[in-house]
Amino acid sequence: MEKYCIHGGKRLTGTIDISGAKNAAVAILPATVLASDVFVIENVPRISDIFAMVQILEELGATCKFLNKSTLEIDTRNVQSRPLSSALTKCLRASYYFAGSLLGRFNYASVATPGGCVFGGTRPMDMHIKGFMELGAMVPPANVPLDPEKIEAKADKLIGSYIYFDKVSVGATINVMLAAVRARGITVIENAAREPHIVDLANFLNLMGCKVMGAGTNSIRIEGRQDLHGTNYSIIPDQIEAGTYMVAAAATKGDVLIRNVIPKHLDTITVKLRECGVTVEEFDDSVRICAEGRLKPCNLKTLPHPGFPTDMQPQFTTLLAMCDGMSVVTESVWDNRFNYLNQLRRMKAEVEIEGKHAIVHGVEKLYGASVIANDLRAGAAMVIAGLCAEGETCIGDIYHIDRGYEDIVEKLQACGADICRKEFPDEE
Ligand code: EPZ
Repeated sequence: MEKYCIHGGKRLTGTIDISGAKNAAVAILPATVLASDVFVIENVPRISDIFAMVQILEELGATCKFLNKSTLEIDTRNVQSRPLSSALTKCLRASYYFAGSLLGRFNYASVATPGGCVFGGTRPMDMHIKGFMELGAMVPPANVPLDPEKIEAKADKLIGSYIYFDKVSVGATINVMLAAVRARGITVIENAAREPHIVDLANFLNLMGCKVMGAGTNSIRIEGRQDLHGTNYSIIPDQIEAGTYMVAAAATKGDVLIRNVIPKHLDTITVKLRECGVTVEEFDDSVRICAEGRLKPCNLKTLPHPGFPTDMQPQFTTLLAMCDGMSVVTESVWDNRFNYLNQLRRMKAEVEIEGKHAIVHGVEKLYGASVIANDLRAGAAMVIAGLCAEGETCIGDIYHIDRGYEDIVEKLQACGADICRKEFPDEE
């Protein structure tokens, strides 16, 4: 079993280049099956979620080839709507986007239940299913009870519709967009998610010949089209990867230039870092983070975009755990995204959970310990904690981190961190 081992206490200094956005890439790759053609996608992050996506595309009959480190060519001319088994879908959450894109292209999709991060609560799909049904799909086919093991959706033809989501959902917005672009007529998605990856997917779909308007607002209007084609596209930089390194730089009292970012996408993270006393300089496509001395506490609340991203909550809470005073962190997107605090407590953080709130009493120092990555962003939080802690931190279950951070060890080493990936005997 592999672990990350970190000797903490080194300031991060230098430059980090951000990779393409995972959560945009995992929506754009499934969108390629909407047309029978060749696509060239640039700025694709080399992470295990993408390798799993490529495997699913190949299972469906696509040919995928990396032309260089981050450019992926996808040929979908031989794609068919085959049932996707859990062996393929359980590797990542976004495998369920094939339900939307296969339904859109073939009027049929059978996709086993997805995997991905589990935060302790549930990750329901009721709004995805509601959206497909509003477009005229039968989910499951008539008279068959809902199957907890898979989503099976079928339609004679998809018809554009008015869809209102009771709650803002990134996944349901994307899945319905993927199906609706090939429906007859107009679909309106109200109370849609507004994350940068929704806009990126819409831009990609429009280059394929779709007509998607309003992405980035809470009302998306889609005119269905049948004549879609391949295109070349470059994925936006990863907002959460950038945010993670911004917080790591601040937490280690470092001085780091983070390149290949869209500073606007980082606004809420920048604001909160400044509240803590961190200097954040913004340039056209980079940000520089400098911090010194003990940082100030601040309160934060996660919200759908443009609010503070839930995917930055564990990393930021880790920073607050070392600030000079008490902070209150409110998690309002996921029911239970504080599981990782048990790990942080092993490193002598002082944190209590009260319902949706974490009460963080900043300590002067964290101490190295043996911890695990509970999930992807929790794992990133452990890396930040390890970079700051006195002594050695060994992080297990790092496959979670590998799902979303390209070359994390190399990027941190280049800024002076003492971190390595080590093989350990499997534990009983
Ligand atoms: C996406 O998950 C991201 N994953 C998550 O990032 C991120 O935490 C989340 O959006 C919120 O920003 C991907 O993009 C692959 P949601 P998703 O549907 O789409 C409820 C990471 O670390 N809900 O926006 O699954 C749900 O329970 C990952 O990169 C329903 O009630 O999230 C939650 O409370 C982890 N019914 C809220 O909506 C539904 O049908 C938001 O979930 C769907 C969701």
